[in-house]
Amino acid sequence: MKIVRSSKEMYGLSGRWKKTGQIISLVPTMGCLHEGHLSLIHNARNASDRVIVSLFVNPMQFSQNEDFDSYPNQFKRDSELIENSGADALFCPPVEEMYSETFQTRITVSKLSRGMCGKDRPGHFDGVATVVTKLFNVTDPDVAVFGQKDFQQLVIIRQLAEDLSYNIKIIGAPIVREKDGLAMSSRNIYLDPEGRKCALCLYEAIQASKNMLRTLGEVAVETLLENTKKIVGRAGAKLEYAVIVNEFTLVPDDYINNHSILALAVKVGDSVRLIDNSKLIA
Ligand code: PAJ
Repeated sequence: MKIVRSSKEMYGLSGRWKKTGQIISLVPTMGCLHEGHLSLIHNARNASDRVIVSLFVNPMQFSQNEDFDSYPNQFKRDSELIENSGADALFCPPVEEMYSETFQTRITVSKLSRGMCGKDRPGHFDGVATVVTKLFNVTDPDVAVFGQKDFQQLVIIRQLAEDLSYNIKIIGAPIVREKDGLAMSSRNIYLDPEGRKCALCLYEAIQASKNMLRTLGEVAVETLLENTKKIVGRAGAKLEYAVIVNEFTLVPDDYINNHSILALAVKVGDSVRLIDNSKLIA
């Protein structure tokens, strides 16, 4: 596996692969890899001839009170995992390579970035959209794989790719969970044993909503959201938001239908923010 730190080198490598007619896929990550990330690489391998994984902790998507400085750095472990997963290149630029001193451009996917996590994390999705645009330009992929775990992010990237006329197929890969249902996340390592138990409320709320729909047939949106609130409160977590939205537009649903997604964010303890989501009708 080639480790590439400069944009110029990455662009050249991708160009050479393209010239020989190979399909290239990109899997963007911020490292601290778990099986969720590895499943994206697996998806990418199935969809292309060459897989590029990027590992870049993007300062632009963290606000000042967030965990940029303490974001876990496990480069050696991550690069081994990426190599063993069969990736062909690891693109891991230093911050100065991505953001020069004079950097001043910002990509905003306006409407889709406003609600849900965008409300709690102002500027976050501009940071994501900007870095993903740069990663698309530097790696020039045919396919890019993102996780459904960050559902709003996935919908925003799809819109960005369409709006900016990228000829890139965006694949949304299913959420990988721990045995007990907790969605895998790089931030799960911040949970102490009590927090780990509390964090199960996200999955519990999702399962409770699905069960209610299965047994009762029809349930009002408000009833499901009230129940979610109760489950999160009972577990001792703080609900940041719970919404039921259309999976393509992220517009709140008036009634549950085949495209409804329940998405929620909670804070466990003072600082661990976790998200999860699921389609309500399979
Ligand atoms: P990061 O949090 O490292 O996630 C990288 C990718 O892994 C994202 O597409 C995310 O949705 C996916 N992922 C995380 N947990 C997952 C799980 N349990 N199951 C399946 N996929 C999962 O998301 C980012 O980084 C950044 O915002 C990035 C897109 C790299 C831009 O900086």
